[in-house]
Amino acid sequence: MSTPSSSSKAVLSQGDGLVIYKRLAAYALKHWRYLILAFIGLVVAGSTVPLFALYMQPLLDGTFMEKDPVTIKWAPIALLVIFLMRGIASFMSSYSMEWIGRSVVKEIRSELFSRLLRLPVSFYDKNNSGQLVTRLIYHVEQVSVAATKGLTVLVQDSVIVIGSLVVMFYYSWELALIVLFTAPVIAGLIAYISKRFRKLSRLIQDQVSEVTQISNEAISATREIRIYDGLDYESKRFEDVNEKNHKSYMKRVVTERLSMPIVQFVMALALAVVVYSATRGDLLEQFTPGRFMAFMTAMIALFDPLKRLTSVNAILQGGIAAGESIFSLLDESAEKDTGTKILKKATGNFEFKKVAFSYNQESDSVLKNISFSVKAGEKIALVGQSGSGKTTLVNLLPRFYDDWQGEITLDGHPLQAIKLLNLREQFAYVGQDVTLFNDTIRNNIAYGNMRVASDEEIKLAAKAAFALEFIEKLPLGLDTQVGENGTLLSGGQKQRIAIARAILSDAPILILDEATSALDTKSERHIQNALEMLLKNRTTFMIAHRLSTIEKADKILMMEAGEIIESGTHKELLAQKGAYSKLYNLQFSDGK
Ligand SMILES: Nc1ncnc2c1ncn2[C@@H]1O[C@H](COP(=O)(O)OP(=O)(O)O)[C@@H](O)[C@H]1O
Ligand SMILES: [Mg+2]
Repeated sequence: MSTPSSSSKAVLSQGDGLVIYKRLAAYALKHWRYLILAFIGLVVAGSTVPLFALYMQPLLDGTFMEKDPVTIKWAPIALLVIFLMRGIASFMSSYSMEWIGRSVVKEIRSELFSRLLRLPVSFYDKNNSGQLVTRLIYHVEQVSVAATKGLTVLVQDSVIVIGSLVVMFYYSWELALIVLFTAPVIAGLIAYISKRFRKLSRLIQDQVSEVTQISNEAISATREIRIYDGLDYESKRFEDVNEKNHKSYMKRVVTERLSMPIVQFVMALALAVVVYSATRGDLLEQFTPGRFMAFMTAMIALFDPLKRLTSVNAILQGGIAAGESIFSLLDESAEKDTGTKILKKATGNFEFKKVAFSYNQESDSVLKNISFSVKAGEKIALVGQSGSGKTTLVNLLPRFYDDWQGEITLDGHPLQAIKLLNLREQFAYVGQDVTLFNDTIRNNIAYGNMRVASDEEIKLAAKAAFALEFIEKLPLGLDTQVGENGTLLSGGQKQRIAIARAILSDAPILILDEATSALDTKSERHIQNALEMLLKNRTTFMIAHRLSTIEKADKILMMEAGEIIESGTHKELLAQKGAYSKLYNLQFSDGK
């Protein structure tokens, strides 16, 4: 019968499916020792089934018909041997298969995670986190199921099917041929079912991602939802995907569950034909009770494997759909890093030459014709309305975004010529939205390559950032857990921790993007003094709304719609009576 090979052909006939299948198989093949063990186990366990059918004839005819004393003596022992063999082989194969499956999960997860760490920042602008997490958790798990359960059933049940057919042909080739006639019908059914299953699996995967995403959003935006009465909207949104998800699942269930009774009915039809034919004419002479029983046992033994072979195909399809989504992520290109230059510690001379930038090809330039230079140790303040491109400009420095036109150099080297890791080591960064890790305050300040910092150093940095005063009031001090993204701290406290982190890092270049925006005026003034210490001898780019913090800058760049419209010191710009002086007067007439 051609069922096993035709079912796998349905998987392989699609070119893409084959490529993905091969890539997935490569993961399993790495564990070839376990694979061999599993294979042997599966073949042995599988062959006990036709063996048992074969044994039916001597058992029945020998004991009950002929009353042969040798058969009577050995019959129970032979039975035990067959089942002992099956038990041992099954354990061996499932242990090895699980080992391979879990290893594949582990390996793919590590690869995915390390890929996620190396993807360009722009990738995260375009993809939602729910979908990414789903791939890492749910899709990888599906691949493992496909790798273990799929292969188990494919090998073991193929052995059972082939073995049982051999037994059937051995006892009556005429009847076996009749059974074989139903094979194309079953194969056709399987092919149809697997195609539909693959489509539904992919749909369900996408919808699960949507469910994750919407619930993630609802969980993190709980305050906004309450204040702006988004309850109905969120419920509706969730209800929609939930409902869609339910429907697709049910469609898949119908496909899956209908396939079994249909295949079984076709088999029952064959069974009826067999019983009918065996009891007519010459054939009736051929059969003893034992021979007929052996034939029937072999035939009945075909049912379950065939049924599983139809559903294993579905599992493989699900695995391939999941593999597709995993590989598309693994194949995303990492950040470009062609730089070779290594700076020990940058001096901090920057030069922007006619820099233009847009986030994607279709959209307008966010930065236009930016030219200016910065000498080592200077403090550059960027001022301008929100949306004028300040954050974008400073994000180019550590190459969070690439592909700008024009040239940016650091100490005379184009940024792209410097090794990425080395370039980023030169920076400390405090952004507008501080991100803290779900860890202790100590580990949040001494993050990454600063892990080695001593408590003294950490405290010093925290003190300079005016963070120590609140840290020391906490019962656990530096060992306080900050919660997921620092939820247990206020915005200002988080910012002070981020500033402490920057102070500790001792990098030669500093980026402060509205670093003090969440602080009250008093703390800000305190930090201002600390920052002044910090900024000494460091090239600093700072973005601030409060002009008082930037008056002392060596150079102020006034930005508007992606361009620098004025530049100079505070005094010079006031004297120009242009946009900056207008802004300045506006703030002070505000009573600031
Ligand atoms: N990740 C992004 N993808 C696409 N457009 C962006 C992205 N970040 C910012 N922009 C757009 O770039 C412009 C400048 O934004 P930004 O540099 O954040 O301004 P600022 O920091 O001065 O408020 C805005 O029009 C904004 O919509
Ligand atoms: Mg900004």
